[in-house]
Amino acid sequence: MSSNPSRCSVSGQAAFVDLPANWKLRVLPTADDLAAESTYLIETITCDLARRPSTADSATGDDAAPVPSLRKLHLALSGGSTPKKIYESFARTYFFKQVLDKKAELNLWYGDVRMVPDAHADSNARMVTTALDGSFPDNVIHAVDVAAPAAEAAAKYAAQMLELMPTTDVGGVAVPVFDILLLGMGPDGHTASLFPGTDAPAARDAVCVTCMPGPDVKPRVERVTVTAPVIEAAKHVVLIAAGAEKKEAFRGLVASDAALAEHKEWLRPVIRLLRGCKGAVHLLVDKAIAEGCFRSKCHPVDNNVIEATTGADNGAAA
Ligand code: 6PG
Repeated sequence: MSSNPSRCSVSGQAAFVDLPANWKLRVLPTADDLAAESTYLIETITCDLARRPSTADSATGDDAAPVPSLRKLHLALSGGSTPKKIYESFARTYFFKQVLDKKAELNLWYGDVRMVPDAHADSNARMVTTALDGSFPDNVIHAVDVAAPAAEAAAKYAAQMLELMPTTDVGGVAVPVFDILLLGMGPDGHTASLFPGTDAPAARDAVCVTCMPGPDVKPRVERVTVTAPVIEAAKHVVLIAAGAEKKEAFRGLVASDAALAEHKEWLRPVIRLLRGCKGAVHLLVDKAIAEGCFRSKCHPVDNNVIEATTGADNGAAA
């Protein structure tokens, strides 16, 4: 994967930003702009995929007879507070109904869940279904069995994915291929429910695992989460993050290895797993995160959207 380190000054210290060729970075002025741009991006990708003729993408992909007009789409939704506005926007536009009208069979999944009852205030399922406000048919969303013990729920959810989704081989493990996988990011660099200091980020022999985050994480409840190989295999990874408290994690995400060697304090191992992604990676962050991470000439927050891709003239090369 070619990468094109760009030299930027971060408050006078030399630092390198390295955006792999399959990454696209968008920096938005506000959290509302971030939600609007993310909604537009997900709708654009989904509609584009929905328009494409279906391939024999049933469970194992090669033996099932192609279903002529029905395209199956698999979107993994993220928990946390940042994506809520996106889901509310989907509900307002009846986006999912539009997709279905395009003769696509839509499947919504959870990239990770907190093992609490669906009615619980910390439930990702509650956040998602409340925000989507019934703007999708009941059978579209695949729920995690939060009443079961976490390990059992993780195994069942993984089996469901492998049964209903196209798969690919990652290191000898059959992994479901999501069309879009939506992710958030915590200040500690966690994504989905792959938390630093646990075994979950390193798990590569399973599709879903359990994870009990450390004492500083709120809510500190057990989670079921997809693993790194699932994130790496997704066709489109859409990472959205807002808030200055995530600036260091963002630096740890975009910095080159050389910069990390100079600035070990930026290293957030979990979020670096995005560098293993084979598909397109869309990073959408707000000004509060990106401010100060780029050289003033390419300071990306002067009331416009900055798109930075490899080799893009973001003024960093000077
Ligand atoms: C969860 C999430 C988690 C989330 C980040 C960011 O269930 O907590 O899936 O990975 O995306 O913690 O959360 P915020 O969007 O609330 O900052």
